[in-house]
Formats: sequence, C-alpha cells, structure tokens
Amino acid sequence: MNSLTARPAWTALANHFQQIKGQHLRQLFAADPTRGERLTAEFAGLYLDYSKNRVTDETIRLLVKLAEDCRLRERTAAMFAGEKINVTENRAVLHTALRAPRGASILVDGKNVVPDVHAVLDRMTAFVSRLDPRIKNIVNIGIGGSDLGPVMAYEALRHYSRRDLTFRFVSNVDGTDFVEATRDLLPAETLFIVASKTFTTQETMTNAITARHWLGNLPVHEHFVAISTNEAEVKKFGIDPKNMFGFWDWVGGRYSMTSAIGLSTMIAIGPENFRALLAGFHAMDEHFRTAPYEKNLPVLMGLLGIWYVNFFGAETVAVLPYDQYLKRFPAYLQQLTMESNGKYVTLAGQRVDYQTGAIFWGEPGTNGQHSFYQLIHQGTKLIPCDFLGFSRSLNPTGAHHDLLMSNFFAQTEALAFGKDAPAAHRVFEGNRPSNTLLAEQLTPAMLGMLVALYEHIVFTQGVIWNLDSFDQWGVELGKVLAKQIVPELQADADLRHDSSTNALIRRYRQQRLR
Ligand code: F6P
Repeated sequence: MNSLTARPAWTALANHFQQIKGQHLRQLFAADPTRGERLTAEFAGLYLDYSKNRVTDETIRLLVKLAEDCRLRERTAAMFAGEKINVTENRAVLHTALRAPRGASILVDGKNVVPDVHAVLDRMTAFVSRLDPRIKNIVNIGIGGSDLGPVMAYEALRHYSRRDLTFRFVSNVDGTDFVEATRDLLPAETLFIVASKTFTTQETMTNAITARHWLGNLPVHEHFVAISTNEAEVKKFGIDPKNMFGFWDWVGGRYSMTSAIGLSTMIAIGPENFRALLAGFHAMDEHFRTAPYEKNLPVLMGLLGIWYVNFFGAETVAVLPYDQYLKRFPAYLQQLTMESNGKYVTLAGQRVDYQTGAIFWGEPGTNGQHSFYQLIHQGTKLIPCDFLGFSRSLNPTGAHHDLLMSNFFAQTEALAFGKDAPAAHRVFEGNRPSNTLLAEQLTPAMLGMLVALYEHIVFTQGVIWNLDSFDQWGVELGKVLAKQIVPELQADADLRHDSSTNALIRRYRQQRLR
C-alpha cells in the first residue's frame, strides 16, 4: 500500500490547502452566506455546525475522498464484524457489541458474543436491584479506562443519580487518593468495586489491598466485587467469582465504559437509564456505520481533525463543554484519543512520515474563558476547538443558562470573525476554527451518543493514519522501570541507572529516612 502522503487524494488536499490557507473565515462567510446552515449535520438531536472551520465544500469532498481511498468503509465493516483489527495484540475490537441489542449476532472466532454481553448486563441489573441495604458508599477502584469512564459518566449523569448513596473513585497509587476518598466513610457501609481488565495493574491492586486492610475483619464477599477479564487473578485476590462481573479481551480499557466496568454508573443512575445510555451509544454506532460520509458526524469531525493536524500543523484540540456536568469529559477524551492514536508506527510497522494524534485538552466553559482562552484568541498557535452545549439546562436557575449559552455562541463567533481595532493588542485576528455541537439536553442517551461520536472520530483518524488505535505499548516501559526501582528505594542497593536517575533516587532515599 502507498504511504499516506503519496496518495493522490493526499496530494490533492495539499494543493487545495495552498488555496485555502490564506482565506479568512470572514471571506468564506461573505462569499457563501448560507454556509452556516449548509455546513452542518444532525443525527438524533445532536447538531453539528462545522461551518466555522477553514474549509469549503471542496475541502470536504477531498477529505471524504481521502477517507474512501484509505478504505474507511471496509475497515469499519471489519471492526463491526469482529475481525482482529488490533493486530499487535491479535484481538477483535468490539466495544460496539457491548451496546448491540439483544438478539443481534456478532461473531468472534465463530461464537456469537451478544448473548454473553446481555447475560452480564442482566446480572448487573439483578445485582443493582438487590444491593445490600446496609451499603451506603460505593468506591470504585480502578485506573485508566477502569476509572475515567466511570468517573466521567458519574459526573455527567449526576442529575439522574440516586442521592442515597455516596460514590467515590480511587485511582492513583498515591495513598492520599485512598485516604481522602475513604476518610469520612464507615467500612460496614462501604462496597468496593475493583475494576481492572487485567487484575494485575499495580495501582489498582495496591489500592485494593489497602481497601481490604481498611475493612478490618469485615467479610470480603460482602464488601468487594470485581470487574475483570481475569478470573484466576480475581480468585487469587480472594474475591469469589460469584461476585465478579466479566468482560472480554475484545474490549479495550478505554472503550470499556459500556461493559461491566460501568457497574458504578448503573448503580448510580439505575438499570433503565444505563440501558438508555447504551442505546445512545448504539444509535451513534449505527449512524457511523451507515450514514453517508458527507452527513456522518464522526467521519466529518475525524476528517476535520486530520485537516488541521496534517495540513495546518495544529498540535492540539481543545474540547470545551458548556455544561458543568461534563467537567471530566476532556479528561476522559484524553485517554480515548491519545492512548489510541498517540503512535508513530503504522500497522505495517513503519515509522510514519506525517503527524498523528493531536493533544486533547479542555475545561468546561465559562471557566476556561477566564484562563486559557486568551491564547486561543490572540496566541500564535492554531487551536481547533470543539464547543459542546445544550439548549436546556438540567438545573434551570434564574438567568444562568442564557448567560452560559450567550458565552458559548459569543466565543465561536469571536474566534471565527475577530475584531479590528486601532491598537494592535486589541485586535482579534479571528480565523480560529471551531466545531459546535448543540443538543437539547444532557440525557443518558445523549451522553452515549457523544462518547461514541469521539470513539469513532478516533477510529476514522486511526484508519487514515494507518495506526493500530487499540494497543498501548507506549505505557509499558515506565511500568517496567518502576518495578525495578521499587526495591532500590528501600535499601542500599546498587544503582545502575543514568547519573540523573541515580542522583534523584539517592536524594529520595536520604530524605525519606529523615
Ligand atoms: O496502562 C494503561 C492501561 O493498560 C490502560 O489502557 C488501561 O485502561 C489501564 O491501564 C488500566 O488497566 P486495567 O483495567 O487492566 O487495570
């Protein structure tokens, strides 16, 4: 296969970029007064306005051509069909099966996995409805995909959450995380959910052992459940497999919030809302799989991301939710996007000669406006932004929502069109691109649609960049070195690192003994 940059569709985009790069969004809107209504797409109440991007209809046509040349359609079909597209781990990639309706058929190695998915969902539902009434606190112990999805969903759907339980999330191996999360809880009222795909992750197992000590003599089987793919390790830890909810190696950690990893979410919002969340995911999966690319939200946003990273040289994407409930959404997206596409080796094992995954970051509006928006408006870097907002607040309070949303609309307008002024420091050049995602209200189904939207943006980009978006080898080396260093911190062991690491460890040893 040709290298990406040698494809005719790529060359066509590179030529087209030369024409576009000097054009201001003011000119594009003046020359095409209806683009604000035309360069939009909508699916199931999620409205995308991408007109404030530095594109024309021709750009979209060429980007869609690139997607087709890179066989996005075939690769999508392969993922949904359970082919082993995670080649470095020889695994299928089937988070979409986690939200497939009962009765669907998706085969992995000849076996339909959908009945197993629903059997686990049914067990989770039964568990939630029979939750021991003595339990008042749920503490999820997990990290990465076993934490960020549950935390983000808990915060995002707090409006729908039961208020008679306290939810806490412990992830960091820093003991402070556990101590602060449990400081005001009573062991007899606490249920720990140990969430770990592998059940070997250092942080999670350390926190789980600390939790076992914290419980004192209370019976483990009444205060622990496990969520994992690794029954042997769960048993070894002392948790009865009856108290274990399984999932499968074809679910990546960062794609696992709709698996049993979502147990804390289901406890919080109830099985019915959890099913609505899954239905939202599934609806977006189907939209991605079937909608024409010109109207396909994940494909359009994925391609716009490619346009900025590879042609404009943008390094980051700011995700700016104008909803306080989505405050952990940017953090969630960081693992989803950066662990998936932060790679320099192609599926063929070659080093890329083009840029790949952007850095994702963001804060909820309007907080970000009083912090880093200065740089987005007047800095020297081009930062494409995704603005997310809702027409109806879940907490209507005086004029708050209109004020919030007036800022939401004002920011994209200011970024795109700017403002002239006599003094240079007061000039807003504008021409800063953004997407606007607007929906009526934040519901469980809408949250599912939003997360699946970004999952498929990541997939679209991974296909074009020709990456394995489903492995994460880049996290391994640090883990290995940390394991080696643990015993070296204790004693006078020989240090065989570089001079910097040796000196730092020596200093640590001296100070910790004081
Ligand atoms: O170190 C990265 C990682 O493997 C993530 O991909 C994963 O979500 C996280 O660690 C936690 O892994 P586990 O669920 O196996 O504890």
